[in-house]
Amino acid sequence: MPVSRTFVMVKPDGVRRGLVGAIVGRLEAKGLCLRAMKLVSVSSAMAARHYEEHRGKPYYPELVQFITAGPALAMVWEGREAVAVVRALMGATDPAKAAPGTIRGDWALSITENLVHGSDGEESARREMEIYFSPAELSAGPGSTASA
Ligand code: TYD
Ligand code: MG
Repeated sequence: MPVSRTFVMVKPDGVRRGLVGAIVGRLEAKGLCLRAMKLVSVSSAMAARHYEEHRGKPYYPELVQFITAGPALAMVWEGREAVAVVRALMGATDPAKAAPGTIRGDWALSITENLVHGSDGEESARREMEIYFSPAELSAGPGSTASA
């Protein structure tokens, strides 16, 4: 499996609770490489694109309300099997069922406020990165000759 990239977000609860450093630290310690990062206020339009596959679900209004309620940290991480590796580090969607040692398993209990988002595949990773980052932001970073 070649090096891949995934889109990761520390959701507003993680920023509010001061868990940005702890969450980023786990991804760094695993050996993943940070390629882009910014604090964003997610607009309703961005939330609708991000969570389009969930439109119509009973939890959708609360999900959009939550994700737009405060600053979130948008990131791109790279590494061997990055999509699957980040999903494993996050733990199950429902933090009550997430294994201890995972981000959600250790630090969350609410399904809505479950601290992190990570893309569930290569295609969603590409799609999600483009919602939050410009092409220039995505090409910057280690190994790049682009200047900011
Ligand atoms: P999903 O993509 O299924 O989970 P994950 O974040 O693990 O990829 O769902 C997106 C978000 O929607 C999830 O992080 C929290 C919210 N959600 C609920 O609030 N209730 C639910 O029953 C589900 C399935 C998701
Ligand atoms: Mg998902």
